[in-house]
Amino acid sequence: MTQDELKQATARAAIEHVPSGIIGVGTGSTANFFIDELAKIKHKIDGAVASSEATAQRLKGHGIEVLELNSVGELAVYVDGADEITAHMHMIKGGGGALTREKIVAACSKKFVCIADASKLVGMLGKFPLPVEVIPMARSYVARQLTALGGQPVLRQGFTTDNGNVILDVHGLQIMNPVELESRINQIIGVVTNGLFAARPADVLLLGAADGVKTLTAI
Ligand code: 5RP
Repeated sequence: MTQDELKQATARAAIEHVPSGIIGVGTGSTANFFIDELAKIKHKIDGAVASSEATAQRLKGHGIEVLELNSVGELAVYVDGADEITAHMHMIKGGGGALTREKIVAACSKKFVCIADASKLVGMLGKFPLPVEVIPMARSYVARQLTALGGQPVLRQGFTTDNGNVILDVHGLQIMNPVELESRINQIIGVVTNGLFAARPADVLLLGAADGVKTLTAI
């Protein structure tokens, strides 16, 4: 099976976790497969909250109503992909640059269902460069602080987030304690948020492998 076929299989499996009502929807190629599956059962839901402009456009393209987060209460479920995930359900996200809105929608959701192909499951986070969303005028200052933490920040060229900010992708981190590092980076002045999703990990991982989709929860 190709990586896309594995992503599609996990997206299909996530439909089982969709209750009636309003759900949160993530960003990226795996989330896009999920949106395409969601379109097939759109009569079952009242609408969706999108974690990016791209996701909002795709949802609308399928005739799924997109609601403002501020106009809905707690969401029952948030479904999204990840760049890396551990057996503890800690993740690196933000490869698509939507990390801040993703983290906000996840924070408002009772259950986080992560959908990923088997290549995303890792023993330790950090091989995938950690995205950090930064207020543009603080870019150099934040880069120096991230270097002091042992990383090599690289500006994502030609990219502006949906919130009008820049992304520093931090290479070379071996993330032994994701909860601590998430908090530490978020305390740097000028950081909007970083792509560690550890304080609020996933609740369920649907992992697409050649022998089927496995359902994992934190060890
Ligand atoms: C976007 C994300 C995505 O979930 C992550 O990059 C995984 O993407 P894909 O499903 O395309 O592999 O965090 O900001």
